[in-house]
Amino acid sequence: MFPKGIPMAPFHPDRPALVSRLRAAGCVYAEDEADLLIAAADSAEALIDLVDRRVAGRPLEHLLGWAEFCGLRVAVDPGVFVPRGRTTLLVSAAAAAAGPAPAVLDLCCGSGAAALVLHGRLGPRWLAAADIDPAAVACARRNLAPLGVPVYQGDLFAPVPSEWRGRLDLVVANAPYVPSGAVALMPAEARLHEAPVALDGGADGLAVLRRVAAGAAEWLAPGGHLAVEVSVAQSEALCAVLTGAGLVPTVVHDEDLDATAVTARRPA
Ligand SMILES: C[S@@+](CC[C@H](N)C(=O)[O-])C[C@H]1O[C@@H](n2cnc3c(N)ncnc32)[C@H](O)[C@@H]1O
Repeated sequence: MFPKGIPMAPFHPDRPALVSRLRAAGCVYAEDEADLLIAAADSAEALIDLVDRRVAGRPLEHLLGWAEFCGLRVAVDPGVFVPRGRTTLLVSAAAAAAGPAPAVLDLCCGSGAAALVLHGRLGPRWLAAADIDPAAVACARRNLAPLGVPVYQGDLFAPVPSEWRGRLDLVVANAPYVPSGAVALMPAEARLHEAPVALDGGADGLAVLRRVAAGAAEWLAPGGHLAVEVSVAQSEALCAVLTGAGLVPTVVHDEDLDATAVTARRPA
């Protein structure tokens, strides 16, 4: 789940007791979590505080301040969407669709996890990220500023410099896609600790993605690709939306990751 090589703590925690507490609170990877929390604490008191907050339901990544994504350590601030393992499929599908030295936009970027990975994989000639949530934008800037990648704040394509309209080779967008009625059924870690704007995709979950599709038809270069994530149950309806926007969709699914990604090409 997380990279090995965790440093020793500067004090002597009771690891078995910690593991038991985490396990009793429902943490599936209690042993890994115990090691990570021990490594994150600089005193016994700090460790107790971290474990108390974890047991009370805080996402582990918000306590650590980072998440592992595609082998990279991505900073994640409180309230910001924690990058999910399933999104590795979206990033791989996006990378596979891109040609050499592409111009890339990570829309609905959250922490900027996808942009961070694509920067390393694609050698893009231009890469930027954008999100509507100021907390996500601040977090993405922390992750991406060292790479010289700009992060814009605003609604979908609105804050992106207009000179890139019709010139983007790849738009990757893990937009919110949970139907409004299903948000209440999500695990408490997501429901209570991630921003509603990161989860709620409207009545059928596709409200934001409809607008992403319409925008992509305008912002992609001919031959460019949009790459988005949905649930498998939504993929058919999403393909109809993408086709209606003049794009040509392809669905990829990974059973093990429980992940579905759709790439959609703007015809040349
Ligand atoms: C499911 S999260 C994904 C975050 C990130 N791409 C990831 O995979 O970790 C969706 C993100 O979309 C952003 N978002 C929602 N509506 C938006 C909009 N209209 N314009 C831009 N960003 C939006 C949220 O703030 C949130 O960060």
